[in-house]
Amino acid sequence: MIDTPCQMPDLTPVLKVIPMPSDANQYGDVFGGWTMAQIDLAGAVLAHKATRGRVATVAVNTMQFHQPVSVGDIVSFFAEVERRGNSSITIKVQMYAERHPANPVTVKVTEASITYVALNPDASKRQIPAA
Ligand SMILES: CC(C)(COP(=O)(O)OP(=O)(O)OC[C@H]1O[C@@H](n2cnc3c(N)ncnc32)[C@H](O)[C@@H]1OP(=O)(O)O)[C@@H](O)C(=O)NCCC(=O)NCCS
Repeated sequence: MIDTPCQMPDLTPVLKVIPMPSDANQYGDVFGGWTMAQIDLAGAVLAHKATRGRVATVAVNTMQFHQPVSVGDIVSFFAEVERRGNSSITIKVQMYAERHPANPVTVKVTEASITYVALNPDASKRQIPAA
């Protein structure tokens, strides 16, 4: 597949990671389940901060895989609040890969919208605090 170069958002990433060979599928590309787990973690970082406490993922609203991720890519995750509800918060996560260090290129690989519910220590839902 031909890389489509792009710029990363002008934001601080919530997470940066390099996939390892153990994260690849039988074809050598990074396994989609690994990508989904990292996206969920990245969204949870912002959801946790924005709601000031425990959260649980309640829905993956959308998830688009634009380009494959390769072992050794430097993968950055950017998160933004899409919607604040009463007990829920929806986070948009964008995932970019920097690859080919000798001839660097940045590509947008995946994006998702995930809803988290703010929880009390006993796992009941709670009102999210004002922004
Ligand atoms: C999260 C949980 C406590 C919510 O329980 P509940 O009392 O039935 O919650 P509600 O139906 O009132 O929904 C709570 C909020 O989530 C939102 N929500 C629930 N289902 C949703 C869905 N499918 N999509 C988007 N938002 C959803 C509701 O709109 C509500 O938001 P609001 O308070 O901002 O209006 C419960 O569903 C739960 O424990 N789920 C499992 C979570 C989990 O284990 N996640 C990890 C998965 S591996």
